[in-house]
Amino acid sequence: MAELTRHVARMSGKRIRPALALLGAGLAHSAHGRNGSSAWSSRAIQLAAAVEMIHTATLLHDDVIDGATLRRGLSTLNAKWGDTLSVLSGDYLYAKAFCLLSQLDNPTVLNLMSDTARTVCEGEVAQIQHQYDLTLTRSNYLKIIGWKTASLMGAAAQSGALLGGASAKQAAKLGIFGTNFGLAFQILDDTQDLMGDEEVLGKSLGTDLALGQLTLPLLYLRDAADPELRSQLAQWFNGNGSRTAAQAQEQLRLLKQEAATHKVPAYCRRVAKGYLSKAQSALSSFPESPFKSSFQALTDYLLQ
Ligand code: IPE
Ligand code: MG
Ligand code: MG
Ligand code: MG
Repeated sequence: MAELTRHVARMSGKRIRPALALLGAGLAHSAHGRNGSSAWSSRAIQLAAAVEMIHTATLLHDDVIDGATLRRGLSTLNAKWGDTLSVLSGDYLYAKAFCLLSQLDNPTVLNLMSDTARTVCEGEVAQIQHQYDLTLTRSNYLKIIGWKTASLMGAAAQSGALLGGASAKQAAKLGIFGTNFGLAFQILDDTQDLMGDEEVLGKSLGTDLALGQLTLPLLYLRDAADPELRSQLAQWFNGNGSRTAAQAQEQLRLLKQEAATHKVPAYCRRVAKGYLSKAQSALSSFPESPFKSSFQALTDYLLQ
């Protein structure tokens, strides 16, 4: 485990989810909870660490599911040690995270985080249920990304707020921030999976198309496609993945080109911006503070 977790520790990411937890705690504390004691901040740090561990656990499992070989600029655990050890390392991190969460002595936060871990899992399962489903609706796509990605971001901000002394109602507002932020985040991630460059992003891309997962850019393309492209898409999705690596490369290249012609990235950015402004609105009842500005800065960062 030491060898495996050392590799995991070297794969540090952007740490957006722990930032949501810490900012949630700070914002709530500055707005409500001033009580002189600093216990809230060390608890918030412990929550933030647990949130990042849960996220990393989902990634270890996700990279097995997606057959990804590159993550955060390094080999994935599954590429280096195989699927079995990668799955077990994910389980280990989940267990460690819930150990930390149980020490917070806050049943509401523990309940929220365990419920969220279950939801993330359901999201990944729902996605598999729609593998090679060319009829996937936009509303089901949004449900899936809401479960697999946005739920953890919402829970991070909401739990942070609870530890910072927010009322349930105020904490729920930060949950709404995190959820909308998470929807925008996954839409942009899905756009990068189709359009991005592996070397620049340091992770395996093209996995959604390779696994027959329709995402927002592909949904848009499906609906905008001329009959020729549409029947080609139907043919690929009927094949249930039976194609050579060279064929898959060629499909990705062609779809990238079509996506650029149909201005798919601009469309996805517009949709993401819509969710980011919903996220911003959820902050409106909080007084101005450096924490609130940092939440706003996070939404700007996502669009860069
Ligand atoms: C996975 O979505 C979201 C999780 C809950 C792990 P992706 O499969 O698109 O994530 P990346 O692109 O590999 O990071
Ligand atoms: Mg993946
Ligand atoms: Mg995935
Ligand atoms: Mg992705």
